[in-house]
Amino acid sequence: MIGVFDSGIGGLTVLRALCARFPQLAFVYLGDHANVPYGNRPSSEIVDLTRAGVEQLLDRGARLVLLGCNTATAVAARTLQQDWLPGSQWAGRNVLGIVAPTVEAATQTPWAVTSPQYPQKYNTDIVAVFGTFRTISSGVYLEEISKRCPKVTVVQQVCAELAGAIEDNAGEAVLDALVGAGVAAVMMQTGGATPHRAILGCTHFPLVEELFRRHLPAATRILSQPDLVADSLDHYLERHPEYVTRVDAMPGVRLLTTGDRDRVGATARLFWPDAPSFEQA
Ligand code: DGL
Repeated sequence: MIGVFDSGIGGLTVLRALCARFPQLAFVYLGDHANVPYGNRPSSEIVDLTRAGVEQLLDRGARLVLLGCNTATAVAARTLQQDWLPGSQWAGRNVLGIVAPTVEAATQTPWAVTSPQYPQKYNTDIVAVFGTFRTISSGVYLEEISKRCPKVTVVQQVCAELAGAIEDNAGEAVLDALVGAGVAAVMMQTGGATPHRAILGCTHFPLVEELFRRHLPAATRILSQPDLVADSLDHYLERHPEYVTRVDAMPGVRLLTTGDRDRVGATARLFWPDAPSFEQA
């Protein structure tokens, strides 16, 4: 069984892609709706909340937990992987984040390669990154892209209110204004130059990808995290079949929330009509 964790409904964008890609596997999803949004919280709180969510998924039998959340990945993944998991009762299981596959897609460089390789050495593209306050202030995308592609210009933009507005099911006008302001701020930073690629570095943002498409220049390629995370997990499981072969579970998906299951379920069904009902975590 594979666990997927997010602060709220954002990780469902990733989970949905995983269910389509791996119909033979069992997934359990936990959305921490009682505490969403994470993006403006202090780092120590994000680490504690993420660890609590991961513990719950491991406790329910997940051998592998994917943080379907950029904020949790940027702030907590390394601490959980290196400082917590190995000494915990779940040593031997694993926690993965979603920054690595996104950086791999943005730089066309494997994560294990941390220095510029041909042709990235000559890559002078502009990459825009949209994320929560905490993801952007961690600098993780800037740092990891620059390591591999030092001549790429990384333009970062905080969209502080967007994940919360998506959770609150704000109307299109509100969401459009928030996305429009974020894109305008990016275009200001580039001096009007068209970004070659845009990373929607928050798993809530694919839910308003059309609005990003509307505001970004037509030539900007949007990197879709759900699909590229599914590609990356596919390769990971080929190298690490132990995380799925020892599982004694029926294929399919269970959705759990720390929040109000009816309210969360109604929002989820707006973009995933076939989503199963949420259960109380
Ligand atoms: N969906 C999350 C992310 O990818 C977090 C949004 C939030 O809780 O602020 O960053």
